[in-house]
Amino acid sequence: MEETALYPPHAGFVSQANVSGYAAYEQLFQRAAEDPEGFWGHLAEEELHWFEKWSHVFEWQPPFVKWFVGGKINASYNCLDRHIEAGHGERVAFHFVGELGDTRDITYRELLATVCQFTNAMKQAGIQPGGRAVIYMPMVPELPAALLACARLGVTHSVVFGGFSAEALRFRIDDLEAELVITADGGWRRGKEVRLKDAVDEAMQEGCASVKHVVVLQRTGSAVTMREGRDIYWHDFIAGASAECPAEELDAEHPLYVLYTSGTTGKPKGILHTTAGYLLQNTMAMKWVFDLKPNDIYWCAADVGWVTGHSYIVYGPLSAGATSVLYEGAPDYPKWDRWWEIVARYKVNILYTSPTAIRALLRQGDAYPQAHDLSSLRLLGSVGEPINPAAWEWYHRVIGGGRCPIVDTWWQTETGSIMIAPLPGAIDLKPGSATRPLPGVQADLVDLDGNPLEGPGEGYLVVRRPWPSMARTLWKDPQRYESAYWSRIPGIYFTGDAARRDEDGYFWVLGRVDDVMNVSGHRLSTMELESSLVRHPSVAEAAVIGKPDELTGQAVVAFVTLKQGEWDHSILTEELRQWVGKEIGSFAKPKEIRFAEGLPKTRSGKIMRRLLRELAVGNTVSGDTTTLEDFNVVNKLASKDED
Ligand code: WTA
Repeated sequence: MEETALYPPHAGFVSQANVSGYAAYEQLFQRAAEDPEGFWGHLAEEELHWFEKWSHVFEWQPPFVKWFVGGKINASYNCLDRHIEAGHGERVAFHFVGELGDTRDITYRELLATVCQFTNAMKQAGIQPGGRAVIYMPMVPELPAALLACARLGVTHSVVFGGFSAEALRFRIDDLEAELVITADGGWRRGKEVRLKDAVDEAMQEGCASVKHVVVLQRTGSAVTMREGRDIYWHDFIAGASAECPAEELDAEHPLYVLYTSGTTGKPKGILHTTAGYLLQNTMAMKWVFDLKPNDIYWCAADVGWVTGHSYIVYGPLSAGATSVLYEGAPDYPKWDRWWEIVARYKVNILYTSPTAIRALLRQGDAYPQAHDLSSLRLLGSVGEPINPAAWEWYHRVIGGGRCPIVDTWWQTETGSIMIAPLPGAIDLKPGSATRPLPGVQADLVDLDGNPLEGPGEGYLVVRRPWPSMARTLWKDPQRYESAYWSRIPGIYFTGDAARRDEDGYFWVLGRVDDVMNVSGHRLSTMELESSLVRHPSVAEAAVIGKPDELTGQAVVAFVTLKQGEWDHSILTEELRQWVGKEIGSFAKPKEIRFAEGLPKTRSGKIMRRLLRELAVGNTVSGDTTTLEDFNVVNKLASKDED
């Protein structure tokens, strides 16, 4: 194997780091491994505010865990009130940048006031702790405020990414039986309005019987339809509401949020996170991984609609008292230097983004970043997919000026917080590797039979012990939670990823081993796409695979067989892409659609995706095809390339 370059942190970084030097990391790691109760219990006391202390640190009845049992806490109090009480009320929580150029600085005190008003308004509307709210908003400061207001009252929120369609929104509202929907007229993306309220209206045409109130923020100011008695503008909703509101004293295990993510079936999984453990581990990640200091300007350029935004725009940074940038729009609007202009303007110290974004920015050349002063940057981060060494090297050299460590962070919606990543002042970096597990994380590799692998090798990535921020269950589906994550090796968490461990004990995450694709760092399920395609009147059968893509990591390729009839393939290609866009969201549209007379199947009728993958990549088929029912089908597919 090729020799990998090693990037040790430079002395200037190490000397100021929160965890300074390898020995300090190792000590934390060992302490957590030897005495998890003592380790996490101590941190929970030091790092969080409690109304009442817990009776024991955790209770583990595989696969169900409770952390800080009996403790009383509130996430919104931890993110806001305690910083104000400590004298930091005038600190900026968010430097907001709208896509069209409007800006607002929101201090912790101002954010708390908005949150309290919204919480009081929810109470007046009869919403109670234990209720559910679906949030479908653009990236404006009222979005984190809405999450925190729910957390303050004990309402379980579920954010739906603004790129999801009305259909996807309806499924989530119904699954949660949400009584409140918080939305906006629209938001700005590449200079165009993304009309959110229209999608809410469309979703609510059928089903959604549980919804009593729809609160609509005016962001774009465009005309929307408001239904009497159900829909109310945000400013009318909070009019007259007091800006003071005590935080509910909630159980440590109170359900904080549900976030839907793709699994291996057609139905998205509602990942449930609870309060105290989630908050604690994310607070620690801010300090350990992002090396956060009180005066830092931090920017996670993700969307709050994904888990990265929940953990590293809202709960982690605010709990740690950070000052963040919040940007509404696209990196290329109006030009490809928008991010660099923002970094220079706010003197951003820490920037966290995805490999897809880095590759897209890299393609535009060095002139855009070089036109701006990026010298404030101290640390860079990456998340969502493996980062290829070329993109890593560009990020390091051109954006980081060669001086900023890159924290490549591996984690999942299910893990709640970062699991494998370098502590930047302690670990030597290798481009493409997320390096080592964080303190308290027992990551390991197992073989096909679940046997542990010693030393270097490749296998399934698993986590051996419960950790505070892990998902507690799937919404209304504990059985699926158990079978998806805990049945392959009882009592051990199965990540669905394959990884390699090298001779230094570094992890290299290779990708998913299940039917989940990763497109631009967004998870898509092959089954979800296939069931969408077969709902189209022309489609008989569909098989979807991920094909390596230079920009987006993977790209969706759909193999489709059609029902009897005369079909115009070129018209149908576009129609099917639009169809998927409408059913799931435009980010899920297949890049390629290939029409075929049949799909290759095993004797038991399972579609042989491996063959389709090979076809999509090179139009050649190799390897073991002995279980193939009809090899001719494959040949036909191969020759149908231009169809
Ligand atoms: C992949 C995103 C390699 C992985 C936080 C995981 C990564 C899935 C990395 C989770 C990384 C995430 N290197 N692969 N640094 N980070 N992944 O739930 O396959 O949207 O299982 O959470 O993304 O995606 P999710």
